[in-house]
Amino acid sequence: MIRIAPSLLSCDFKKMGEELKEIAAAGADWAHLDVMDGMFVTNLTFGIPVIASLRSASDIVFDVHLMIEKPERYIERFAKAGADIITVHYEACEDVAAALALIRAQGKRAGLSIKPNTPPEGVYPYLADLDMVLVMTVEPGYGGQALIPACLDKVREIRAKLNEEKRECLIEVDGGINDATAHAAVSAGADVLVAGSAVFGAADRAAAIARLRQA
Ligand code: DX5
Ligand code: ZN
Repeated sequence: MIRIAPSLLSCDFKKMGEELKEIAAAGADWAHLDVMDGMFVTNLTFGIPVIASLRSASDIVFDVHLMIEKPERYIERFAKAGADIITVHYEACEDVAAALALIRAQGKRAGLSIKPNTPPEGVYPYLADLDMVLVMTVEPGYGGQALIPACLDKVREIRAKLNEEKRECLIEVDGGINDATAHAAVSAGADVLVAGSAVFGAADRAAAIARLRQA
């Protein structure tokens, strides 16, 4: 089953709660929430209080993507704000294993993400402690970029490794996923497609979500 996780980064922020409700009603599986700190990436978005406020608008799964330095500092607070899945970056943690343990200790699903230039082997030591690997298919920081095709080779490699080790872990792809690229991502082994501009830029969001799911 392919899951679709629209990224609220491309929504109309002046009505973020309504946008969240709309994609939930339109058939989204998860809501992808991009937290950026201006340090790990050169952009700033939103954080704990915004997610806590959105929590009361919908019970859809909150897939929180932390693009922040030393995410260990904030995991407990994001969990309490209502995150269901918390993904940290391999490149941003002081201690990846400790960060994943903190997420699991909060009773949340743990994700680990790699940027386009990070080799897939980076996540291999942690597979036993992961619910999801997030393979960035653009440089993190901004919506609306074009997918980097070489990143899908990493999806293939991680999928092969997961099969070899018989693990349940999901693979999520994020960045440049649209009608033209979704099929290649799924063929490479992705289970979860994040899509920002392809969903929020569509006149009919339910149709956009349905098309991506059938990729
Ligand atoms: C980028 C974010 C993505 C972004 C995707 O750093 O992690 O989630 O919103 O946007 P699109 O789908 O427009 O590439
Ligand atoms: Zn993201």
